[in-house]
Amino acid sequence: MSEAKRLAGEKAIEYVEDGMIVGVGTGSTVAFFIDALARIKDRIKGAVSSSDQSTQRLRAHGIEVLDLNSTGTLSLYVDGADECDPHKRLIKGGGAALTREKIIAEASQTFVCIVDPSKRVDVLGRFPLPVEVIPMARSLVAREIQAMTRGQPVWRQSADGAGVVTDNGNVILDIHGLSIVDPVGLEQAINQIPGVVSVGLFARRPADVVIVGGEPPTVL
Ligand code: 5RP
Repeated sequence: MSEAKRLAGEKAIEYVEDGMIVGVGTGSTVAFFIDALARIKDRIKGAVSSSDQSTQRLRAHGIEVLDLNSTGTLSLYVDGADECDPHKRLIKGGGAALTREKIIAEASQTFVCIVDPSKRVDVLGRFPLPVEVIPMARSLVAREIQAMTRGQPVWRQSADGAGVVTDNGNVILDIHGLSIVDPVGLEQAINQIPGVVSVGLFARRPADVVIVGGEPPTVL
């Protein structure tokens, strides 16, 4: 799959125009995009980053990382996804960066999503749905989501057995066992629960373009 990710990441460079400030997502597919962006770094003004991980990679390539508060609306955001349905609605947050990703997607005119073919589904939900939660609300939010969806919330742990902490200092619940027939409705309902920072459903603001890596890449 890593070759498909590379092909998707490199294809997305075609959407970068001279003088742009580029919104940059997080993950292994985006890493290929960042490496390709580095080859044309003198043509762009800089990047807005969705995570500490992407910031480090951008800076290692000498690409300036700017604050979204000072850039205004972005022309382009490029990010990966964990699942993508035929309407370009997404599940994201496998890398725990969903909140900043959602902010940048909202701030961008065009959201180009780069995926390998394994990410395409007819109905979202096979991938556990990430929800970023304020730590003190973890159990409350888990109970409310379980009652609402019949899905099973699992507190995300890192490899060393400690709870994952996001770049914003919060925790992640992954909701297993969903079949999401109304992604916009579920996104809105989960967002209403006190303590939820954001949910990794990108349905209200889906991708505008999806590039599926392959030889050649498919553009949806
Ligand atoms: C991070 C994300 C990623 O875009 C998603 O997890 C896909 O990652 P990868 O490109 O490594 O498969 O949402 O929060």
